[in-house]
Amino acid sequence: MQLDDIRNLYLHRQSCRSFDGREVPEETVRAICETALLAPSACNAQPWKLVAVLHEKRAAVAACLQGLGMNKFASDAGALVAVCEGKSNLTAKLGGRMKGTDFTANDLGILTAHLVLAADAAGVASCILGWRNEEQLRALLGLGDKTRIPVVVALGYPKTEDIRPKQRKPLSETFTIL
Ligand SMILES: Cc1cc2nc3c(=O)[nH]c(=O)nc-3n(C[C@H](O)[C@H](O)[C@H](O)COP(=O)(O)O)c2cc1C
Repeated sequence: MQLDDIRNLYLHRQSCRSFDGREVPEETVRAICETALLAPSACNAQPWKLVAVLHEKRAAVAACLQGLGMNKFASDAGALVAVCEGKSNLTAKLGGRMKGTDFTANDLGILTAHLVLAADAAGVASCILGWRNEEQLRALLGLGDKTRIPVVVALGYPKTEDIRPKQRKPLSETFTIL
């Protein structure tokens, strides 16, 4: 594996907002999630849980991701994967407390990145969805009152294979070497 291979994967992965409605097979969703769950986390606490929603339950979950014209395309996603907070471990909790930082949000973000990249490598398009009704999602997914669900990842097959050029800030603004 060369850096160029990774770079090409990163350039190929893009937020898909036009899915063709085909369902992503369960074994593909499982393989993507299993791969993503190899992601690193603070103290290896793995404070997460992925809840994949397939079949007819997709519609109700998609509705939790929509409103004010946002994320209409979620209704055509072939699977929806909720990135949920899960159990942490004592070392991470103590370490976080001593350093005044809870790394859970960070860990869930890293997991999400692994998920969308694994999906792309598996030939599945994705879009990270942060516009959500967390309370409704929790109820629908049968999760506890306080369980955070920072994002849901829509997976599916794109209507077009066109890859958009990346819009990113100039490197001079986002990178420096001291
Ligand atoms: C935490 C997070 C939340 C996001 N929420 C949404 C969303 O609700 N709806 C949407 O269409 N895109 C959403 N996006 C996608 C971003 O708009 C997208 O990643 C960004 O514009 C860069 O484009 P690219 O993913 O195609 O490279 C979200 C991305 C992240 C990381």
